[in-house]
Amino acid sequence: MLLGVNIDHIAVLREARKINDPDPLDAVPLARRAGADQITIHLREDRRHINDDDARRIIENSQLPVNLECAVDEQIIRRVIRLNPHRATIVPEKREEVTTEGGLNVVKNFEKLKNVTEDLHSHGINVSLFIDPDPQIIMLSKELKADWIELHTGFYSNIYAMLYSNLPYTKHTVKNLELPRKKLKELLKDATKEIVDNTAYANKLGLKVAAGHGLNYQNVKEICKIDGIVELNIGQCIIARAVFSGFENAVKEMLEIIK
Ligand code: PXP
Repeated sequence: MLLGVNIDHIAVLREARKINDPDPLDAVPLARRAGADQITIHLREDRRHINDDDARRIIENSQLPVNLECAVDEQIIRRVIRLNPHRATIVPEKREEVTTEGGLNVVKNFEKLKNVTEDLHSHGINVSLFIDPDPQIIMLSKELKADWIELHTGFYSNIYAMLYSNLPYTKHTVKNLELPRKKLKELLKDATKEIVDNTAYANKLGLKVAAGHGLNYQNVKEICKIDGIVELNIGQCIIARAVFSGFENAVKEMLEIIK
């Protein structure tokens, strides 16, 4: 299993003070030394964490491949092409959201995504689509000639947290926290099966499958057992652990679980 370490939250911390410390670029050699396989960053339209200069310096200096997440937006895509990362992962983006909630609406954005995928490919950039585990969306991703799909594990992660931690109800979790544990366990089983089945389907179509969002040191154990998922992109829990035990240790501890 490959690990892409999402380092956006290092820039989140810097932006809390709007100064130049900590620098997300400093995480790159540490991630490599810990054994990570990829650096993942998200250049958001509002540049709320990673900015253009971070993206440029990280892509120019990283000895690990850089996976640049971005929205299907004309200006951002032009910028991504100039930055020339190893891979671009197209994600849905709304300014008001705290993080990326739900996968891309591939049906609604099909024509835009087709142009963007062609454009990125013509510049030698691999394309991944961040999508929900749904066979119709996977079939359309194949039609779009994506190289990768990244399955959104947010629903699985939320159910897991509701079962095994005291995650409060938010609009992102399942509506009714009063659900009996038996029901939550069924939902978790269904969410896992959805990921398993859709990974197999995507593999059958020749798509490489990554997964990410909300994964942590506990819930990742089931996901990394799934045949056909070859890469996980993980950010929040690694940076959270790094606060207490150091970034390199936090990456190593994740790698010990998933490798
Ligand atoms: N993959 C994608 C496409 C994402 O947008 C994110 C969140 O930025 C992640 C993975 C990492 O999610 P988390 O920070 O919850 O581990």
